[in-house]
Amino acid sequence: MVTIAVAGGTGGFGKTIVQELIKQKKHKVIVLSRKATPIPDSDVPVLAADYSNVESLKKILAEEKVEVVISAIIMASEQASQCQLNLITAASQTPSVKRFMPSEYGVDYTEEMLTFQPAAAWWLSANSLLRTTKLEFTRVIFGWVSDYLGTPHFPTNLSPFKFVLDFDNQRAAIPGDGTNPVTFLHSSDVGRYVAALVDDERKWPEISAFAGDRVSWGEVVRVAEEVTGAKWDITYDTVENLEKGEATVFGEAPAQYGLDEAGVKALVVEFALMSVKNITDISGLGLRNKEYPDIKPLSVRDVIEAAWGKK
Ligand SMILES: NC(=O)c1ccc[n+]([C@@H]2O[C@H](COP(=O)([O-])OP(=O)(O)OC[C@H]3O[C@@H](n4cnc5c(N)ncnc54)[C@H](OP(=O)(O)O)[C@@H]3O)[C@@H](O)[C@H]2O)c1
Repeated sequence: MVTIAVAGGTGGFGKTIVQELIKQKKHKVIVLSRKATPIPDSDVPVLAADYSNVESLKKILAEEKVEVVISAIIMASEQASQCQLNLITAASQTPSVKRFMPSEYGVDYTEEMLTFQPAAAWWLSANSLLRTTKLEFTRVIFGWVSDYLGTPHFPTNLSPFKFVLDFDNQRAAIPGDGTNPVTFLHSSDVGRYVAALVDDERKWPEISAFAGDRVSWGEVVRVAEEVTGAKWDITYDTVENLEKGEATVFGEAPAQYGLDEAGVKALVVEFALMSVKNITDISGLGLRNKEYPDIKPLSVRDVIEAAWGKK
C-alpha cells in the first residue's frame, strides 16, 4: 500500500481517478485542493493546498508520507500551469515521493504545436521540469475523450462539451474531410489505467499511451446516425477556414475554461486543427493497452449506443 495524493482530485479526471483508486481499496488516497471542502458522498480526505507556496506543499507531502503524486489540475491558464510546476518542485524535494503523474490526459504536446496552440507550453514546461528531477514520471495520453459523445446520458465527471457532434440537434461539423484517424478513451478507462500504472512496479516510461478506439470523425458521425436512426445535418470545416481561425461552434466550452464566445471558437479551432494534423491520433506512440489485458476499454460505439441507443 502506498499513499497517493491526487491534486485536482475534485475535478473531472481527478475525481474519476480518485473513485477508481478508492474502489480498488489498495492504497491510501488523499486529495489536494485549493479549498479543503469535502467531496460530496465521499470520505476521502481533502487537504487545502497553497500551490503558490512550495514549502507548504512539501510539508503536506512529507507529513502524509506521499509516495505517488497524481496531478489532474486543469491546464487552462498560466497560473494553473505554475501551480503544477510548484507541485513538481515540491514533490522532487520531498524524500517520500518517488513517482509523479502530470496532468496530461490528452495528446503528445510538442514544440511544433506552439504555432497554433500556445497553451502547449504548459504541458511542455511541466515535462521539461520533470526531466530535471529524480522523480519517475509517466504522461497518460490517449487523444480525445469519448465522454463528450455520451453526455448527458452516459456517466462522467467531465463537464459537457459539444465538439464535432451535436446529438441534441443531430448535426455535425467535421474538421477537414473527416478521414483523419482519432484515438478515443473514456475517462472511466483513464481511471482504470492510472490505477493499473500505480500498481505496476516496473519503471514508468515517460509516455503511457492508451486508446479505447481509433476511428475518424466521419466514422463517428456514421455511428451516431446509425444509433440514432436519423440522417444528420453534416457540414465540413475546411482546413483553409480552420487556419484562418474559423470553425463551427455548437455550444459553450466547459464552464471552467471561463471563455467568451471568441475564446470558445479559438478552442474549437485549436482542437479541430489538432485533428486534421493527426495529433489526436496517438496510436503511433505505442499503445500500452495489451500490458493491462484485464482492462477492456469502451469503444466509441459502446459509449454512443449506451447513451443514445434505443432503451
Ligand atoms: N483529451 C481530452 O479530450 C480532454 C478533455 C478534457 C480535459 N482534458 C485534460 O485533462 C486535464 C484535467 O481536466 P478536467 O476537465 O478534469 O479539469 P477540471 O475538472 O476543470 O479541473 C480539475 C481541477 O483543477 C483544479 N484547478 C482548477 N483551476 C486551478 C488553478 N487555477 N490552479 C490550481 N488548480 C486548479 C480544481 O481543483 P480544486 O478547485 O479542488 O483546487 C479542479 O477540480 C486538463 O489538463 C485537460 O487538458 C483532456
